[in-house]
Amino acid sequence: MDYPFINTDVNTDAERLKVGAELFTKLQCQSCHPTSNAIPPGKSPEDLAPNLQLAHERLRPDWVLQWVADPQKIFPGTRMPTFFPPNDKGVPVSPFPDILGGDVKAQIQAIRDHLFITVGGGKRATRSSSVTN
Ligand code: HEC
Repeated sequence: MDYPFINTDVNTDAERLKVGAELFTKLQCQSCHPTSNAIPPGKSPEDLAPNLQLAHERLRPDWVLQWVADPQKIFPGTRMPTFFPPNDKGVPVSPFPDILGGDVKAQIQAIRDHLFITVGGGKRATRSSSVTN
């Protein structure tokens, strides 16, 4: 992966962030991942997946796209579910055909943007200071 991708990848807009928040809820990311210092109800700390609050500081935006698209490919055996399983032609399919026209790539981007910007504290998350919007 090339570093230059980072700058463009986190450019987003309000509509995409809204869709991202919706998908984040529908896919129940928070059933495993804390997004604050509070522990989700019914979980003990050792059950939990990494806190996503700081994901925008730790993770590369393009890596997150790949991770959400296919966690097993990056980390075989991970408990992180495959949310966009491939159909019999090997094409990933969204469980939500009505959101963004069922466009898997756009949905994953929206989730990532929600994660980086809304969960990450309203900042444009990038390691470069050259991004202005
Ligand atoms: C069933 C539990 C579960 C759900 C639901 C889940 N994840 Fe995960 N996720 C994990 C686990 C566990 C890991 C850590 C990798 C591992 O140890 O297998 C992880 C890792 C991650 C990471 C990397 C975190 C880091 O700091 O290294 C990101 C980003 C992430 N998940 C995003 C999401 C998003 C976005 C959703 C919802 C679309 C989601 N996860 C739903 C279990 C879950």
